[in-house]
Amino acid sequence: MNILGIETSCDDTAASVINESDVLSNIIASQSIHVQYGGVVPELASRAHHHTISQTVEQALSEAQLGIQDIDLIAATQGPGLMGSLLVGLSFAKGISLANQIPLVGVNHMHAHIFANTIEHNLEFPLIALTVSGGHTQLSKLSGPYTPEIIGQTRDDAAGEAFDKIGKLLGLNYPAGPKIDTLSREGNPYFYKFPMGLIQKGLDFSFSGLKTSVLYYLQNKNNAFITQYLNNICASVSHAITEVLVTKLERAMQAHSIPRAVLAGGVSANSMLRKKAAAMAEKNNFTIYKPSFSYCTDNAAMIAATAKVMLQNKSSISHNQRLKEGFGIQPYSVQPV
Ligand code: KG4
Ligand code: ZN
Repeated sequence: MNILGIETSCDDTAASVINESDVLSNIIASQSIHVQYGGVVPELASRAHHHTISQTVEQALSEAQLGIQDIDLIAATQGPGLMGSLLVGLSFAKGISLANQIPLVGVNHMHAHIFANTIEHNLEFPLIALTVSGGHTQLSKLSGPYTPEIIGQTRDDAAGEAFDKIGKLLGLNYPAGPKIDTLSREGNPYFYKFPMGLIQKGLDFSFSGLKTSVLYYLQNKNNAFITQYLNNICASVSHAITEVLVTKLERAMQAHSIPRAVLAGGVSANSMLRKKAAAMAEKNNFTIYKPSFSYCTDNAAMIAATAKVMLQNKSSISHNQRLKEGFGIQPYSVQPV
């Protein structure tokens, strides 16, 4: 069984081929055009996907040493994401599905971040997922292999959005998350105490107060100060964000008596988060799975891997997604999510 995954929900055009046991190719064309605007410009993202999608899919097939006729199932991101960007990938997928009579399944992008962990781990259930990306911050409970149920989420900004917007205030290019991570490694996380929104109770998150607090903190600081203490400021920001994330993850695992969790999404590449999560797991005797860096941020292997999980758990696939014959849904029946 060869599955072709296609992902175009935001600013990465990605295609990947996986089979039962391996990732045969994982191609990601990242769009650099957005750097000059300090964030993703949706119209430009759609146009760049349109420009790149054919060659990205061709490259994924050729690296896997397969032709389109060898593909048994196509999986494309159906949402959530930027509508124009999603349309490019989904329409392309529908086209090759119809032309080659290959079943197509629409995949939920947030589920895919969670199931990116299945590429390298044999997950056990039930488990808790902490999904932290540029657009979302969610805690989910998975009672079984394909039933993510949201138990907490951000009330305002996502964790990745907080990293990116605070980075912009500090003069760092988009996406600032990885840059803040690198600078933090040389800094003191206790240099300045930034607020940790909603840390005391519950499973919801709030990061907009932190962003405002950094804005006020920087108002009376000159450039020389910011340059001199950039590592410390970044480390203090990273500390505030990751402390909240790990505290909430621990609370969710304890409250639901579930000793297993996965980290997922772009922010799960963050070194401070990974370290703190590992320490929390050791303290509680919990198991926390995390994806390799290439499967944290947006990629299409996770889309294909999620289709595989859906295929293995057909009964838990929603009515919209259920195939009329065997598994795959007909190309024209993909529903918006
Ligand atoms: O999952 P992803 O690639 O795309 C979305 O679905 O949003 O996540 C992108 C987000 C960006 O906000 C980026 O700054 C953040 O993940 N990110 C990081 C790191 N690597 C990516 N944030 C903090 N530390 C990192 N190492
Ligand atoms: Zn994502």
